[in-house]
Amino acid sequence: MKNIDSSLSHLLCPITSEKFDPDYPHRLNPSTGRPLLVKYNLEIASKTLTKNNLKFRPPTMWRYQEVLPVRNPENIISLGEGFTPLLKLKRLGKFLGINNLWLKDESLNPTGSFKARGLSSAISRAYELGIRDITMPSAGNAAGAMSAYAAKAGMNAHVFMPKDVPIANYIECDYYGANVHLVEGFINDCGKASADHAEKFNLFDISTMKEPYRVEGKKTMAYEIVEQLNWEVPDIIIYPTGGGTGIVGIWKGMDEMENLGLIDNKRPKLVSVQAEGCSPIYDAFIKKEKFSKEIPYPKTIAAGMRVPSVIGDFLVLNAIKESGGIVVKVSDESMLNSIKLLSKFEGVFSAPEGGSTLSALEKILDSNYISRDMKIILMNTGTSLKYTESVKS
Ligand SMILES: Cc1ncc(COP(=O)(O)O)c(C=O)c1O
Repeated sequence: MKNIDSSLSHLLCPITSEKFDPDYPHRLNPSTGRPLLVKYNLEIASKTLTKNNLKFRPPTMWRYQEVLPVRNPENIISLGEGFTPLLKLKRLGKFLGINNLWLKDESLNPTGSFKARGLSSAISRAYELGIRDITMPSAGNAAGAMSAYAAKAGMNAHVFMPKDVPIANYIECDYYGANVHLVEGFINDCGKASADHAEKFNLFDISTMKEPYRVEGKKTMAYEIVEQLNWEVPDIIIYPTGGGTGIVGIWKGMDEMENLGLIDNKRPKLVSVQAEGCSPIYDAFIKKEKFSKEIPYPKTIAAGMRVPSVIGDFLVLNAIKESGGIVVKVSDESMLNSIKLLSKFEGVFSAPEGGSTLSALEKILDSNYISRDMKIILMNTGTSLKYTESVKS
């Protein structure tokens, strides 16, 4: 395949509209302490990122390279992430009385979760910017992905995870050669420990939303869903929300696709799912607040949804609102039940986070919000093979 150029243009603060140089390793906007977003020259990108050209590109997320942030393709650190299956859930759909139900199965990514996308993008860009020493807090899946991509890049990686992280995540990071630190507390305590370590040892902290490039990998889920539906935008996407990067990425991807002329102005409604034991975005959404409040004692088996304070909360809430979406809270018990349904009806051993999307669908199915003829996408963000200790019955 011919080299494709990234149309990377600048970094933008969505609060102050300040622009930043993308070729400097920025993290947050220092004046607001809030995330920066990556902007591209979409007019240039649209000349080559066409439906026809895409037919001839390899089945990884890097097929959308015009709208990914790596300037020199030699710097791409890839394990084959992306272009995961979009499965039609025929048996489960029939059981629920829906004939257009789909599952984007992100568990088939390298390291078994959608986190591979964000970390392939962020680590490739960090590598391109000359960074070789990185650190990150994680609920588990991101740490596994980060450690694998750091190994592939030959980088020195530190990961900070809660002490009760799923054992599989601990073991894989160790095998990938990362320096694993287990922290007493939750993901935000890991965030503080990682930030201190970054400062002390001059490491680049690659925490979600605290650097601009992880969102870029995650937005490719939107491009893929629409491309796999033959450029039809679905009616509803149901997504499990922890730090919210997935929701923000999907919304950004939709916007870009319209500006690239790949879709019209139809948008999916984004249904964000939170766990009953940790629901900062739900609480803020219900109270119509712009920012969320920290949850003091977060508790859920879905480790990726146990995020008590959300740094990109305003972006997540904006995306949900703009899309006409809602936030639904579900119990751990219902997630376990949903994993069973997805396993038995469709042969997909989804992560609890993925199961939560089916629980949310069941909860809203008889409301006026949804109709049974809509095209509905459930996002299975990972695999329960990494959560066997918490999902065993
Ligand atoms: C399997 C899984 N699903 C969902 C999430 C939440 O994703 P986001 O941070 O994009 O909201 C995570 C995050 O750790 C995860 O590991």
